[in-house]
Amino acid sequence: MIVLAPYWVSYPEIVQLCGATAVTVACGADSGFKLTADALATAITPRTRWLILNSPSNPTGAVYSREDLQALAEALLAHPQVLVLSDDIYEHLIFDGLEFFTLAQVEPRLRERVLTMNGVSKAYAMTGWRIGFGTGPGWLIEAMEKLQGQQTSGACTISQHAALAALTGPQDFIAQSRVAFQRRRGAVVELLNQAPGLHCQIPQGAFYAFASCEGLRGKTTAAGQRLASDEDVVNALLDEAGVATVHGSAFGLGPYIRIAYALDDASLQRACEAIQQFCRTLSD
Ligand SMILES: Cc1ncc(COP(=O)(O)O)c(C=O)c1O
Repeated sequence: MIVLAPYWVSYPEIVQLCGATAVTVACGADSGFKLTADALATAITPRTRWLILNSPSNPTGAVYSREDLQALAEALLAHPQVLVLSDDIYEHLIFDGLEFFTLAQVEPRLRERVLTMNGVSKAYAMTGWRIGFGTGPGWLIEAMEKLQGQQTSGACTISQHAALAALTGPQDFIAQSRVAFQRRRGAVVELLNQAPGLHCQIPQGAFYAFASCEGLRGKTTAAGQRLASDEDVVNALLDEAGVATVHGSAFGLGPYIRIAYALDDASLQRACEAIQQFCRTLSD
């Protein structure tokens, strides 16, 4: 299974649990952390069975445009043995007036081999209710039902009704939360880019900023910790600045730090200022 790095941490583990092998394809800053059609064509072999796509992305916030997906679809059409899991969980968290697109919509010829996944965790802030859903070819959904029926016996009915209420009730708050997230994204990226040693592209979706911390490598903190890796940066930020971030290498691509901005504006401002202060007090 092709997993794109940086990836949501669960993907390689899920692949392993299924007895498959995760083949990681690095999608770095130069391609906006997105898979290109060329990279996909190079990665696919006769043994490839799946590709996992996630747009908007956790951890980078990268968003695939219609054109991006069309180009990937062209490459996929040449390899009929490859199925695609499209994880659309951040569908509604998309900024700058961009429109959300998903692979099965962009290329109907791929519909018979695309599993489109979504859920109520992100747009409806209902993480604890544990409801996700998917659509795809009948044979696959039937197999998924068999597996889930034995593993969990299905989703709790209370959660199902809560999810139904969320999906069929008024949707206007989604636009409001999008505005709030866009404002927070702007503030966080600006403040991070003012921190010496950090560099952050502007993410177009989800609620994460993925900042390169290459410029901090080799420096020493005020408390005397040497920063050899992004994990060192994350640990020192927690110890010395009181800010919780996640290192990029946990997502398969370092040296980066991921900042989740699903938090109120004042706390984010405080956290980013603490990160700035941390970076300013580092020594060579
Ligand atoms: C990319 C991605 N997919 C899926 C999920 C799963 O969300 P949940 O299990 O809450 O539905 C998450 C949660 O963080 C995620 O980031």
